[in-house]
Amino acid sequence: FYGRSNSSPEHLAEVDEWEIPPGSLTLGEVLGCGAFGQVLLGVLNTEGLNLQRTENSEPPTNLQYVAVKMLHEFATDAQKQEFLQEMALMKQIGPHPNIINIVGCCSQREPLCLIVEHAQYGDLLYYLRKYRHLIIEAQSCDSGITTPDDQLTNHDILSFARQIAVGMEFLSQRGFVHRDLATRNVMVADHKVIKIGDFGLTRYVYTDKLYVAGKSSRLPVKWMAIEAIEEFHFTKETDVWSYGVLLFEMVTLGSTPYPTIPNKALLKHLKRGYRLEKPDSCTPEL
Ligand code: ADE
Repeated sequence: FYGRSNSSPEHLAEVDEWEIPPGSLTLGEVLGCGAFGQVLLGVLNTEGLNLQRTENSEPPTNLQYVAVKMLHEFATDAQKQEFLQEMALMKQIGPHPNIINIVGCCSQREPLCLIVEHAQYGDLLYYLRKYRHLIIEAQSCDSGITTPDDQLTNHDILSFARQIAVGMEFLSQRGFVHRDLATRNVMVADHKVIKIGDFGLTRYVYTDKLYVAGKSSRLPVKWMAIEAIEEFHFTKETDVWSYGVLLFEMVTLGSTPYPTIPNKALLKHLKRGYRLEKPDSCTPEL
């Protein structure tokens, strides 16, 4: 496709229909940082590209905002492999309206880039905390009233919970276990559309339904089920546990779960039967 460049002595991945010519992509501000590198805002010129179009209510245009996950230049071979694995997995997952879908990738030269849909309002944790003081009482949870993007109601919280459940149902039916479901990994797009993102820990488990992880300090203990903390067993049921913790985050508008319990002590408490309590902010109706 491009031929090999000096910065890419190895053939990194098979070229396929997802490959984006670097000239079609203009990079902008930093949206976030992770262990692997940065996520940048990008503008993709889709003219001449044969992209799988995802659902989009905007008028057709050749320019599309995207989020570009970029592997840092000092990445180890293991991190590079992990990143390529994430790319390959995202090609198989979607598209679905409640997940951050892949748009393309640059896998033939470094830096390796994974190009995904951009969600205008960023992650749900940030969104909940930002609009904490702007929560307004909706007449009813099921009133169906849509409020502006910069106001939150209990109806919105319920709608977010439903959309995340729909996205997770899609993933699990296709044989994926997410393993890192939390508000920090869920994105808020235009018109309060919610999209599950960050598939860095996601695994395909279709045949044995279980993924046994190696020990890793990167695991999100406070979102993990007992068998995941204890035995590194991840299933769609352990994703449901994480979903419960995510509901706690949503109802408290972005509080940290188990605020007084350090990660190391959590398993002991859970095994004694201790569970997250119903937050004061959770109305009987909600
Ligand atoms: N930050 C990380 N990923 C993002 C995305 N897909 N959209 C917006 N901000 C992000």
